[in-house]
Amino acid sequence: MIELRHVSKSYGPGRFARPVIEDCSFTVEANHFTVMMGPSGSGKSTLIRLVAGFEKPSAGEILVNDRPVTGPGQDRLVVFQESALFPWMTTRENVQYGPRARGELTGTGRARTDFLLEKVGLHAFRERYPAQLSGGMQRRAELARALVNNPAIMILDEPFRGLDALTKKMMIEYYAGLSAESPRTNLFVTTDVDEAIFLANRLLVMSHIPARVREVIEVDLPRPRSFTRILLDGRANALKMAALSLLHEEAMKAFGGGNIPAADFIEAHRRRVAAM
Ligand SMILES: Nc1ncnc2c1ncn2[C@@H]1O[C@H](COP(=O)(O)OP(=O)(O)OP(=O)(O)O)[C@@H](O)[C@H]1O
Ligand SMILES: [Mg+2]
Repeated sequence: MIELRHVSKSYGPGRFARPVIEDCSFTVEANHFTVMMGPSGSGKSTLIRLVAGFEKPSAGEILVNDRPVTGPGQDRLVVFQESALFPWMTTRENVQYGPRARGELTGTGRARTDFLLEKVGLHAFRERYPAQLSGGMQRRAELARALVNNPAIMILDEPFRGLDALTKKMMIEYYAGLSAESPRTNLFVTTDVDEAIFLANRLLVMSHIPARVREVIEVDLPRPRSFTRILLDGRANALKMAALSLLHEEAMKAFGGGNIPAADFIEAHRRRVAAM
C-alpha cells in the first residue's frame, strides 16, 4: 500500500547539507501493522513527515496505492508524538474537527463522533477541555479525532510516548482491539520493543542517522496478543532479543561515534557505580 523507493532527505544548503535519510526503501502492506523502531534522533519522524506528504524527499519516491505522494491526503492521517489537540476546543469539538471542516457534521457525522467518543471511553468527558484530561485520555481523544475520519492509513509517531508504563500497555491493547474491529493500514513508530512486538506484523529496525532499514523482522505471532502471553512466549522473546541487539548496536554507533562493545560499556558503568 505504501512503497518507499531509494528515499533520501537532507537538511541544510549545498555542501553543508546533512543527510538524515539515505537510500531508504521499504513497503507497508495493506491492513497490516508495520512498526518502525530506531535510535532517538535517527530520522524516524522525518520519514513519517515524508510519507504524510508534509515534506518532500531530496531523492527517491514514495508511492501510496501506486501513486506518487505529492502532499498530504485524506487517505493518510498522522498522530504525532506531541499532543496536537486544540486547547481551546472541548474533547467533542476536537473529535468533530475533521467532519466539520469537510462540512460533514450532519446527523450521521455527529452519530459517528459520539460513537467514537464512546469507543475510546471519553463520552463522560466530552465537554472537558484538553487541559482537564489526563495524559492517557488526551491520547485517546487524539486517536478518536483521527479515526473519526476513517482513513485508509493511520500513521502514528510514538503516539503513547510519555505515558506511564501501565497506561501505555493498556493503550496499546486498546488500540490493537480497535484495529482488529476495523482493519486498516498502520505505520507505527516506537522506541519501545514490547510495544513493537505486541503490534507488529512486520518490524523495520532502522539504522542510526542517516536512516535506512537495517533489518526487517516478520512478527508471526498469533492474534489477539496479550502482554502476559508474550512475556512467556519463547518465539516472541527471541524476536524481541533480535530487535534489541540490533537497536543497541545502532544506538551505540550514534552514541559513541564508533561501535562500542556493549559488554565494555556495561562493565565500565558497573565499575563507576561500585566506586561511588
Ligand atoms: N527541519 C529540519 N531541519 C534540520 N534538521 C532537521 C529537521 N528535522 C529534523 N532534523 C534533524 O534530523 C535528525 C532526525 O530527527 P527526527 O526527528 O526525524 O528523529 P527521530 O528518529 O524521530 O527521533 P526521536 O526518536 O527522538 O523522536 C535530527 O538530527 C534532527 O536534528
Ligand atoms: Mg521522532
